Formats: sequence, C-alpha cells, structure tokens
Amino acid sequence: MPLILVRNDITLMAVDAIVNAANETLLGGGGVDGAIHRAAGPELLAECRTLGGCPTGSAKITKGYQLPSRYVIHTVGPVWHGGDQGEREKLVSCYRSSLELARRNHCESVAFPLISAGVYGYPKEQAFQIAVDTISGFLMELEEDMTVYLVVFDRSAYHLTQGLFPEVASYIDDHYVDTHSDSPDVRRARANQAQDFYSSVPHGPAGAPPRPCFPRPAPGKHSRLPGAAPGAASTSRTAPGPLTAPSPAPDLIQALGQLDESFSQMLLRKIDEAGITDAQCYKKANIDRKLFSKIRSDIHYKPSKPTAMAFAIALELPLGEAREMLEKAGFAFSHSSKFDVIVEYFIARGNYNIFEINEALFAFDQSLLGS
Ligand code: APR
Repeated sequence: MPLILVRNDITLMAVDAIVNAANETLLGGGGVDGAIHRAAGPELLAECRTLGGCPTGSAKITKGYQLPSRYVIHTVGPVWHGGDQGEREKLVSCYRSSLELARRNHCESVAFPLISAGVYGYPKEQAFQIAVDTISGFLMELEEDMTVYLVVFDRSAYHLTQGLFPEVASYIDDHYVDTHSDSPDVRRARANQAQDFYSSVPHGPAGAPPRPCFPRPAPGKHSRLPGAAPGAASTSRTAPGPLTAPSPAPDLIQALGQLDESFSQMLLRKIDEAGITDAQCYKKANIDRKLFSKIRSDIHYKPSKPTAMAFAIALELPLGEAREMLEKAGFAFSHSSKFDVIVEYFIARGNYNIFEINEALFAFDQSLLGS
C-alpha cells in the first residue's frame, strides 16, 4: 500500500527516513522537531550544525543516529499568515522536495508528520489535504517502489479527519446495520436454512482427482479462460455462468471443469477492457507492484478484502460489478461493516479517489484500501 495513514509517534517508526518539521536554522525546537532531536541524540544536532540552515519549502538529509529510521529529512514548512502569502505552494514544495530527497537516497519507506500543522499554525484540514494530494500525486508518477506513511499524532489532528466527513457519518447512520439487529429467532432460522442447504449438496467421491489447474499466463500476458479463443476473453465474458444449486449435483469432474472466472481472471479482463496498463491499475489501487505480480501470476490467488475492494475502486466499477469482483475473492458487501458502507458511499457517488476514501476510512478507524 504506497500511501498509509497512521496514528503514531514518528520517532518510533522503523522506516528508511522520517521527515522533521524543522525551522530554517535546523538547530532544533519544540513539537516534532524537539521529539526527533531528543530521540536521535546529540549527534543529530552536531550534523545539523554543518548544514548551514535550510530555506522554507526545501529539505536536507542527515543520519538518524539513535532513531529506528536510517535518515532524518529536515524540511521547513511555511508559517501560516492567512493563506495569501504563498503558504500552499511552500507546503507542497516541502513534501515534494522531501520525497525527491528520499528517492535520491534510495529510501523505500518514508514517514511524514503534518508539516506546519502545529506551531506554524497551518489549518489542520488544509494541511492534511495538501499532504495527501501531494504525496499521492508524487507516488503516481514514481517509477521506484516507495511506501509513504502520513503520521497523525495528537487527538486534535486525528479529529480533523472526522470533520472532513460529516456526510459520510450520516450515510453510515442511515445504512450501517448492527449485526445484532436480527432477533435471536431470525438468526436461528437463518442458521438452520444454511445448514439445510449445505447438507443437500453431496460431497465429491472419495479420491476424486484434484481440481484442474489452469495454465499459468506468461508474465505480462493476461490469463485467458481455458477454451476461449486467444484474445476472446479480454473482450467478452467467456466464463460459463456461475454454478447454480440446488440443481441435481453435477458430476464433480464436470463441475470442476466449469469453475467460474476467478478473481485474478476478472481483474485482468477488466484491466484489458478499461484499456489501462497494469501499473496504472495497481497504483490507482494503492497496491504495491510485488502484490500485483503475485495476483497476476496465480490464477487462484485470493486477496484480502481491502485489496479486492481497492481494485474495484481503481477500475471504477459500478456497485454491481464491484460486488461481483468481491465475491470472486470470497467476500460480500455487508451493511454490518462500516468499511463496506463507507466504500459503498463513495461508489454510489461515483467518487473513486482511493486516497479520499482512505481518509474517510481512517477517520472512522477502519482498515484502509490497498494491500
Ligand atoms: N510524531 C508525529 N507527529 C508529531 C509528533 C510526533 N512525535 N509531535 C508533534 N507532531 C505533530 C503535531 O501534532 C503537528 O500535527 O507534528 C505536526 C507539526 O507540528 P510542529 O511540530 O509544531 O511543526 P510545525 O507546525 O511545522 O512548526 C515548526 O515548530 O518545533 C518547532 O522547530 C520547529 O520552529 C519549528 C516549528
């Protein structure tokens, strides 16, 4: 997952580089600057003295010393003067110059605090939005793999994200069904019904041969459904319709030969149909390249729910197709899950910005979309 929102103390994060919200002297101060210097020890200050300061909007790098992170990238955010003195541009420049410095130093993981959102008085919601937009924009363009953590530290900073989503909160109130809303009798009847159904479906004969495995697609080639003409699968649904039950149980071998399209197959087909590249898809899904390669090369790969949902968002699937993609990974949309209700809110409004959806999920203490 390239961009992750976390609540943490940045001095505890074992990443390649943490970013310090410093001042132009680089000689330490309060807030996160003070916390980082205290945790790193006196050698950090000694190295900072050699740097000759740092102009607002720029960044400089030092070692991490006693910190768990290898480096500290010191950047100087703008002091808020009402927003008409170029504060936004300077703040964007802080994130971009820090990320560029991290890339040049081969950092694969970087943690940012909310620059300027403390002593420098930048309004927290704007500071948060600029951070998410700038970091996600940089990651979309980046060739290399990099995971960026945006660290929200104090309760007030965390509550900022809840202020962003009052309409999500009311959507949750309208749609979130507590799992215990069924009466015990209803729940018992439902359990019995499920029991009756599963006991009606016979099990395969003992010693039945293992289920057929589909040819693995050559890397870079999207898998085609068995029996489909080359190139046919990517434009038309060649998968047979889902097995229906409880018709007379088909012969097990015949049934296994009619497996519906897998998650991986549907994903690759939808990428073809959308006319986008693999990289465009997994970056939009906030998924790292390694996980995508696993999914592409294993036709039976079963992703986690946040990963499956992230691809449905990246492909901008309407709700029905998003549900279908989720089912192929073994999950269902449920109004007893706040995570599902929040994602449904955004899909229903045609908002497929995964970073904005993650801000909402983060604000309501849910898992984030992505790997
Ligand atoms: N971990 C993560 N985030 C933290 C931590 C921490 N240990 N401590 C503070 N923060 C958060 C604050 O809650 C705030 O959201 O970092 C954000 C930035 O706040 P400041 O540290 O006050 O930085 P800034 O607003 O950029 O002001 C910089 O303050 O400390 C001085 O020397 C610094 O003069 C400079 C000015």
